[in-house]
Amino acid sequence: MTTDGDYSQLGASIRSLLAAETDGIANAGNFVASLYHALEDVNWVGIYALRGDELVLGPFQGKPACVRIPLGRGVCGTAAATGTTQRVADVRKFAGHIVCDAASRSELVVPLTVGGRVLGVLDIDSPVKNRFSRSDQLGIESLCEIYCGLATGSKNFI
Ligand code: SME
Repeated sequence: MTTDGDYSQLGASIRSLLAAETDGIANAGNFVASLYHALEDVNWVGIYALRGDELVLGPFQGKPACVRIPLGRGVCGTAAATGTTQRVADVRKFAGHIVCDAASRSELVVPLTVGGRVLGVLDIDSPVKNRFSRSDQLGIESLCEIYCGLATGSKNFI
């Protein structure tokens, strides 16, 4: 849930915050900061950008995190390699989960896709087990679609 339970309202505010800016780093920073402050019970929100065959840490909110994740490794690498959202109710039960903050108990990772290509992932961690419902997943996927729609070319992505 968002603090007001409304992903469409959050989507509208993210769209208006990002629409006029074309710099990829500025928009990535404001996107993750918007989510971090709007979502309840999250301890880390950030973007990993796909660089070759690894994910590299981009703008984030939360504790310092692992910088490089090979494609296919951990929750983030699995989302990027498969192009599918990973909704993990209990990170301790996900084989290969990469621990960045021991407080994290559940995780949602959404691939960031522009023109059919995965350019990175959005990673959200929570200290609460089973934090992300199916409707949270759909809401956050819709926010990622807005964000990726505004990143009209890879030059506007981090
Ligand atoms: N847990 C992630 C690593 C990134 S941190 O959570 C910020 C994973 O398994 O890919």
